[in-house]
Amino acid sequence: MDKYVIEGGRRLYGTVPIASAKNAVLPLFAASILTEEKVIIKEVPAISDALCMAQILRELGADVRFCGSDVVVDSQNATSHVISSVLTKELRSSVFMLGSLLTRFHRARIAYPGGCDIGLRPIDLHLSALKRLGVVIRERGGYIHCSCGTLRGTDILLDFPSVGATENILLAAVKAEGVTTVSGAAKEPEIIDLQNFLNAMGARVSGAGTDVITIEGVKTLHGVEYLPMKDRIEAGTFLIACAACGGEVEVCGVKGENISSLLHKLRENGCKIHTKNDKIVLESTGRLRCNRRIETMPFPGFPTDLQAQITALNCGCEGGALIVENLFETRFKYVPELQKMGADIQVKGKTAFIRGVGRLHGATVVAGDLRGGAALVLAALAAEGVSDVLDLSHVDRGYADLQDKLKNLGAEIRRVRI
Ligand code: UD1
Repeated sequence: MDKYVIEGGRRLYGTVPIASAKNAVLPLFAASILTEEKVIIKEVPAISDALCMAQILRELGADVRFCGSDVVVDSQNATSHVISSVLTKELRSSVFMLGSLLTRFHRARIAYPGGCDIGLRPIDLHLSALKRLGVVIRERGGYIHCSCGTLRGTDILLDFPSVGATENILLAAVKAEGVTTVSGAAKEPEIIDLQNFLNAMGARVSGAGTDVITIEGVKTLHGVEYLPMKDRIEAGTFLIACAACGGEVEVCGVKGENISSLLHKLRENGCKIHTKNDKIVLESTGRLRCNRRIETMPFPGFPTDLQAQITALNCGCEGGALIVENLFETRFKYVPELQKMGADIQVKGKTAFIRGVGRLHGATVVAGDLRGGAALVLAALAAEGVSDVLDLSHVDRGYADLQDKLKNLGAEIRRVRI
């Protein structure tokens, strides 16, 4: 098990190259079995969730090779429609495989998906949408058994704009007979990326990025070479790090409009921010005021995947803040760890009440989930003294080369095997 040893208090200066987006890349792995031709996903980040998706495809019989950072998927010999519990329990994104497996094999059996421990994550919206497309579903012994004849296009109304359900519908409907319309769809930029990828394979999907997506089923899809969009959550994490530590950092590859809700909040903290094309530059004195209120919302609202990081920032600001988590229950599990660093923060239900203490102090803390872990790293970078952040397995799920990128900005951070 690895840990970070972080000496806080260094200002951050420089440019950070941002990796391809985890949440864009994972559904592309699933989409890669929609054709028997070769699919190349370029610049896949070295994160464990991507390795896990590769392993899932191998279990199906696909040949998956990493050529540098590009991933080549050849699923010509894939024959299995079963995904075992060992891998699905590791990774919730395995649920995307339902849509692709049904398109490819007309049946799918997957163990109930896992992922970060951030509360109940039901998949009822995925399953009811698949049923609308003509899929018969049985749940038995921790497995979901799905089968279908010809998938048929239909109108689907999502009660909530679930990212995963929207993507699963795209994967299931892309070769369905007729037209599928998804109303109440999620509008996250990663869905536009999936649309672009599918269309590059010969699909006819339109409307992603709005709340109505139309999918005209096509007969065949062909191979593709595709460069996914950059990771707005990774970019946001570095911007918050710079805000907390002070300094001037430029993140490259992400459009400001894709994280405008974060930029708005960081300006409220007292940061100066300039955006140009796909570059964002943030300047911070490191002495900031709290945000009064932040509520996580589906895109374009404040992303739940940056909630822990902005909470950590607020703990070290002046004033008071209220953070409301509307998407996932128990996404405040990292709070007791922040309290070890001197944070004055109380959680009641889905709301965290923060009294800014100006500066946190170093402590030994444990990263219990991906974004909570990132928040602890940020808190440690800005804190006075040395911190040990234990158990990096969750952070590794979503951040590639985190310590090297931070070191290049001037942070004092070491990865140590224990
Ligand atoms: C995706 C992202 C994740 C992000 C989340 C919200 C990926 C791989 N993961 O997760 O990083 O935090 O979007 O932006 O892209 N829900 C139901 N029933 C369902 C599906 C969802 O009730 O069938 C609920 C969930 O419990 C949750 C909310 O809807 O409360 C949002 O979930 P969803 O948008 O589906 O998130 P994911 O696709 O799992």
